[in-house]
Amino acid sequence: MVWMQNFHFHYSQTTNKLLYVKSTVEQIRERFDNDVERFSNLETGQAATMDAPLSLQLVVQAAAALRPDGKSVLDVGCGAGNYTLQLLQRVPNLDCTLVDLSCPMLRRAKERVGAVTSGTVTAVQADVRELELGGEKYDYILAAAVLHHLRTDEEWEATFAKFFRALKPGGSVWIVDLVYHSTVAVQEMMWARYGDYLVGLKDEKYRDHVYAYIEQEDTPKPLVYQLELLRKVGFNEVEVLNMSTCFAAFGGVKS
Ligand SMILES: C[S@@+](CC[C@H](N)C(=O)[O-])C[C@H]1O[C@@H](n2cnc3c(N)ncnc32)[C@H](O)[C@@H]1O
Repeated sequence: MVWMQNFHFHYSQTTNKLLYVKSTVEQIRERFDNDVERFSNLETGQAATMDAPLSLQLVVQAAAALRPDGKSVLDVGCGAGNYTLQLLQRVPNLDCTLVDLSCPMLRRAKERVGAVTSGTVTAVQADVRELELGGEKYDYILAAAVLHHLRTDEEWEATFAKFFRALKPGGSVWIVDLVYHSTVAVQEMMWARYGDYLVGLKDEKYRDHVYAYIEQEDTPKPLVYQLELLRKVGFNEVEVLNMSTCFAAFGGVKS
């Protein structure tokens, strides 16, 4: 193993190439521990996520439209709490359970969410893969820009199944995330378009920086894979709210 410019590589003797080793949970936690300010502002903090403000609005509108009088939300990978804060504008005074790997993120989320809800606010520092979420507890589950850290198919399925169990009947889960396309040529085309977007936002150096950290840290799955998995674990209604190049907002209803 060698370290190069903060990225972790290992030498593959089968391909004679240097390959990225994906970040560990500790490395991901450390990165987010140091990024609280950026994630406290969705408008400016997630510029690399195409359509981030639109996807957030669509998700909270859909959640509220399905259940205008819900009592409880679980926000997985809550960061500084942007998603829960927006949902509270539509469904006030929810009991809020905030889950994140990063303590500094959770502290910020708890402070911001606690200031606007009269419900209980529970902050849980945990890896979602290891957390028992319980049964039929939540009206809404939100997971924005976090599930791309899941690695194996088993982890994806176990996490989606936990979400299904944790929702009350009629409750819904909403996911906003980077997605890959399973057809190589389409993936390459979409990736190039995303690159153009990043260059337009800043410059080529920024594009290469974003490409590098995605390569280092993320293991996204195609949208179709995730929709099929939602159905497989029990969600009999699935909905796509937005799809923009390689970002999607979608969800499932436990009816
Ligand atoms: C890109 S931020 C998004 C924050 C927030 N959802 C938003 O959209 O504003 C991802 C967050 O997920 C957290 N995270 C990453 N992997 C996680 C895991 N396995 N379990 C729980 N939280 C995780 C990170 O610490 C980080 O705060």
